[in-house]
Amino acid sequence: MEKLLIKGGNRLSGSISCSGAKNAALPMIAATILSDEDITLRNLPYLQDITTMFELLGSMGAKITLDESMNFIISSSSIHDTEARYELVKTMRASILVLGPLVARFGKAKIALPGGCAIGSRPVNFHLDALEKLGAKISLENGYIEATSSRLKGADINFDGITVTGTENIMMAACLAEGRTRLTNVAREPEIEDLADLLNLMGAKVQGAGTDEIIIDGVESLKGTSYDIPADRIEAGTYLVAAAVTQGDIKINGISSERLISVIDRLQDAGADIELGIDSIKLSMNKIPTPVDITTAPFPGFPTDMQAQFSVLNAISSGKSSINETVFENRFMHVQELNRMGCNILVSGNTANFVGVSKLSGAPVMATDLRASASLILAGLCAEGETVVDRIYHIDRGYERIEEKLNYLGADITRLPN
Ligand code: EPU
Repeated sequence: MEKLLIKGGNRLSGSISCSGAKNAALPMIAATILSDEDITLRNLPYLQDITTMFELLGSMGAKITLDESMNFIISSSSIHDTEARYELVKTMRASILVLGPLVARFGKAKIALPGGCAIGSRPVNFHLDALEKLGAKISLENGYIEATSSRLKGADINFDGITVTGTENIMMAACLAEGRTRLTNVAREPEIEDLADLLNLMGAKVQGAGTDEIIIDGVESLKGTSYDIPADRIEAGTYLVAAAVTQGDIKINGISSERLISVIDRLQDAGADIELGIDSIKLSMNKIPTPVDITTAPFPGFPTDMQAQFSVLNAISSGKSSINETVFENRFMHVQELNRMGCNILVSGNTANFVGVSKLSGAPVMATDLRASASLILAGLCAEGETVVDRIYHIDRGYERIEEKLNYLGADITRLPN
């Protein structure tokens, strides 16, 4: 298994651009199932999760080609199989995103039930309840969700809890349903708005994405289009924290700061100077971070996907703080590894309590999930000596060429072969 060797102590400086957003791209690839015309996606990030999503669509018969500008053209007209097998679903829970589009276009889908994962049990009951309200018949057998329907019918659906991929799944399904669907208590993440933009370009009638009520007027069919995947706000946030913990000075280009307001606020609370451009964020930090208390929440609250990275910031801060994780029940797996590097963090239930320390020391550590791995790299950047992060396949799922980008900013990271 490949590893990353990090020699700590370098201050980050310079400017970089972010890649396309993984969590915007994944539902968009699933949305191509809704049309039998070609959809071109530009600025897709080269990530393992994107490859897995393509593998899934390919296994169902979709054709994926690259044009001369390296844009992906997805043709779902040739889909002949509506099954998502366990071998693929187990490697990526976002595979569930094909459920709504498959039932809406083909009237059937068989999707392996995603199991729990490192950050929590992550059930899909909200997706299934909502799809039933649109008229699908759903059964669970032998570890698979089987859904069938004649044309779905619009309905009023209030989600029992806020779910990002659940909102996306049902928004996509409702586009081809008969009549109007009103979704309430939906997720408001920027990626929901991005998906609605793509769907509307395909001829759908979706209004209200980005608020807590989305109204979709179903249409008979959707057409082909092309779309630019926006920059990844979590990747941008991760590099901003990397600069903050190394007392660096960096500029990130191509990212809208509106998508990162809560993260930027907490970085300013920690003592960072931030300059916002039209399409850029500049951070400089010239002191030990002031500790910040954080509670994660659905957008526009503080993103759970930035919690592990801020754990490092608090761990090396000048005092005491706490982080309360309210979105996932088990998202502090990075803490044990950070403590092995000299952090002083105590987890009690859904809260991590931090006492800032003045120095971290490099150590061999193990990545457990995507954002946890990012936090271990950040800790390695500000630790004395060498840190070796094992199981970095987690990081390759969601960060494009992370060591190249950080090295460009002055880090010293080497990818060690198997
Ligand atoms: N939940 C249920 N039932 C459901 C759906 C969700 O109880 O049917 C619970 C979950 O167990 C969790 C909470 O609701 O406790 C929120 O889960 P949500 O469904 O919003 O998460 P998700 O859609 O599976 C997406 C991102 C995650 C990100 C979360 C929260 C994608 C592909 N994934 O997951 O991204 O953490 O929203 O913002 O968009 C990552 O990129 O590292 C990542 C994990």
